[in-house]
Amino acid sequence: MTQRPIIALDFPSKVEVEAFLEKFPKDEALFVKVGMELFYQEGPEIVRWLKELGHSVFLDLKLHDIPNTVEKAMTGLAKLGVDITNVHAAGGKRMMAAAKAGLIKGTKPGGNVPVLIAVTQLTSTSEAEMHQDQLIDVPLKESVLHYAKCAEQAGLDGVVCSALEAELIHQKTSETFVCLTPGIRPSGSEVGDQKRVVTPSDARKIGSTYIVVGRPITQANTPYEAYKSIKNEWNGEQ
Ligand code: C5P
Repeated sequence: MTQRPIIALDFPSKVEVEAFLEKFPKDEALFVKVGMELFYQEGPEIVRWLKELGHSVFLDLKLHDIPNTVEKAMTGLAKLGVDITNVHAAGGKRMMAAAKAGLIKGTKPGGNVPVLIAVTQLTSTSEAEMHQDQLIDVPLKESVLHYAKCAEQAGLDGVVCSALEAELIHQKTSETFVCLTPGIRPSGSEVGDQKRVVTPSDARKIGSTYIVVGRPITQANTPYEAYKSIKNEWNGEQ
């Protein structure tokens, strides 16, 4: 089955999103990521609107609170019909399990429960920062893998991870465990502030289940062409 790269809609408001989506054919069903920037400006309505347009939505809000609060929040997010959403693994297994329970509660009978993934260590966190700020005294990779295993034990579907971690996580978790990876750049494109990037085809080889792509599509002169090219590379059709 053809897989769609997830386009990060890193825009400050709906107006910019509308202008961006106009560059795509109306009947092209996309998979988009709504993050904090857009959600905190436009609220749940932005998700309802994108779903009505026929797009799939990854709502990237990285919840981290007490289990009861996260469970109730997730029930509400499931009602919006999101396709993927996430929590911080640092919230613990009880919190992650509560998140999953909340999603199940909020899903309409017969509907698909949203895919729930965990953020392990943010890719902006260096090993030194993790040692100093979190007092975690193991190598960063070990902490990432530990969080991935906790997520799996709590019944989550997968993790957000750098493609460079996906290979290890893939080896140490079940076959179906999802690795969703940002930091993707087609060969020859601008890297921007991302440090550890891989190409769409390498992400596929390493074992990424989903890739998230922002600026290589949103800032392209012809976003639809950029999208198609990345999609083809991701699907091994180039
Ligand atoms: O523009 P670019 O392709 O770098 O965008 C990547 C998207 O993925 C952004 O929305 C960024 O916030 C998100 N992300 C990331 N690294 C993570 C988690 C999320 O780049 N570890």
